[in-house]
Amino acid sequence: MDLTINDQTYQVADDPPRVLLWVLRDELGLTGTKFGCGAGYCGACTVHLDGVAVRSCLTPLRQAAGKKVTTIEGLARGEVLHPVQRAFLEVQAPQCGWCMSGQMMAAAALIAANPDPSDEEITAAMEGNFCRCGAYVRIRRAVARAAVLARSPGEAA
Ligand code: FES
Ligand code: FES
Repeated sequence: MDLTINDQTYQVADDPPRVLLWVLRDELGLTGTKFGCGAGYCGACTVHLDGVAVRSCLTPLRQAAGKKVTTIEGLARGEVLHPVQRAFLEVQAPQCGWCMSGQMMAAAALIAANPDPSDEEITAAMEGNFCRCGAYVRIRRAVARAAVLARSPGEAA
């Protein structure tokens, strides 16, 4: 089947049926998407399907067919970092980094759908993404900052 990932088309087999995470990481080498629990709990494997944050460890490959898959590798536009990436750097949110691509994909989906989220909306949108280092305060600050950056003139989140 054809998969469109970060605006590139890949041909991958779905025999036996597989989940998106393993195709991204093991077959296509897109290892920015992380494996945490493999069971839908931690959010480390979060990617976008048509702009919506999903758990790639639970997403059957055929559910991604015909949709636009975006991984952390596709969040930037060429050399220009996404506002979420800039904000996470500015706030120095990452500690070990294990959770960060999932956090950033969740944050990007949030601010695309809700450009001016309240603190409560940020907390609600991010609560399914676990951080083993406990960097939650910085993560929330970074998401709020990302929304501000994304609303700046000339930005397209
Ligand atoms: S690896 Fe997918 S939710 Fe944990
Ligand atoms: S930064 Fe280490 S798990 Fe979140």
